[in-house]
Formats: sequence, structure tokens, C-alpha cells
Amino acid sequence: PRPILLTRHGESQANVRGRIGGDTALSGNGERYKKKLANFVEKRLSSERAASIWTSTLQRTILTAGPIVGFPKIQWRALDEINAGVCDGMTYEEIRKNMPEEYESRKKDKLRYRYPRGESYLDVIQRLEPVIIELERQRAPVVVVSHQAVLRALYAYFTDRPLKEIPNIEVPLHTIIEIHLGATGVQEKRYKLMD
Ligand code: F6P
Repeated sequence: PRPILLTRHGESQANVRGRIGGDTALSGNGERYKKKLANFVEKRLSSERAASIWTSTLQRTILTAGPIVGFPKIQWRALDEINAGVCDGMTYEEIRKNMPEEYESRKKDKLRYRYPRGESYLDVIQRLEPVIIELERQRAPVVVVSHQAVLRALYAYFTDRPLKEIPNIEVPLHTIIEIHLGATGVQEKRYKLMD
């Protein structure tokens, strides 16, 4: 059965500063990861001519996929990170200090909490529907280079996790999650390419 490879972008400058959202470029570690990822994908999918690489429209995913050659790349706005609205670019500590009610509401119900002028996890899950339909239609492998909240939702869909767990699923940086959809269920492997 065809694999789906899920990965977050390489570490971004916002990740280093602890800032959410934004559209920053990669850090030095992120730059290293993009090369390791390209090596991995070129080996893993060397015999898979019809494979494709899907990214979000944010530069950290496009840059991460940059060195992968030989496969078509598709950008999906639906793969963009959860929109943190008025909190975009802040640290969690700044949100806690400056907008304590928002911070508390999110802590109480992270799945349903919607950032002012932004999105909730439920919003993200809903906008992913066309991506999921297209992923299920594919016969060839797909590498999805996206973001933490989005990948939590995709991963949960394919591995049948309950909704309420989604906002807390571990999707670390610099790790490839390979999912096989078979007749007998899902199989998963994780490849940690860097610390
Ligand atoms: O910190 C990286 C990041 O992708 C942010 O851009 C995003 O807001 C966050 O993770 C989502 O994770 P959580 O829902 O745990 O805040």
C-alpha cells in the first residue's frame, strides 16, 4: 500500500524565538533538516515516479521541500498553520500576560477555542476535508510538509484518534511520520532525522 509521509517544516526563526504563526524562514537547524529530508525522500521514493510533494503556502514549508527534486510540488492553502488571529506572532507567555482570558479559554478547551479573528482546531479540521479527499484518492505516495496543528489533525484522521486528543498529539520537528493505509488497518513508522 502507498505510504503518506507527514512532516513539519524544518525549524523556523519563529520556532527559535517561541513565537506562534508568522511566515518566517528557516533557522540553521531548519536548513540542515531540509537537506536530510531531501536525502530521505529521494531514497525512500526512488522507485515511485508518480509521488508528489504537498506543502502549505507558507515559506517555511516551501523552503523545507526546496531541495527535494524529481517530484511535482503542490501548494495548498488548506495546509497552512492554524490562524492565531490577533495572537499571531506572540509567544505563549505574552498571550498569558496580555490576554489572560484568551489564554485560559484556550487552556480549558483547546479543541473548540477560536483565536479572535483566527481559527480553532475544529476550523482547521473542517478546512482539511478537501485535502483528505484528495489524499485518499491518490494511488502514489505523497509527502505532506505542513505544520504542527494541521498535521495533528491529518494524523488523527488517518489513525482514527478521538477528536478531543487532536490538540495534544505529539508531532515533533525533524521527524517523518510514515503512514500506510492497508486493508487491515493503518501502520505507522517514525523516522527522527535530527534532534
Ligand atoms: O509553535 C509552532 C506552531 O506551529 C504555531 O505556529 C502554532 O500556533 C502552534 O504551533 C500550534 O500548536 P498549539 O495548538 O499547541 O499551540
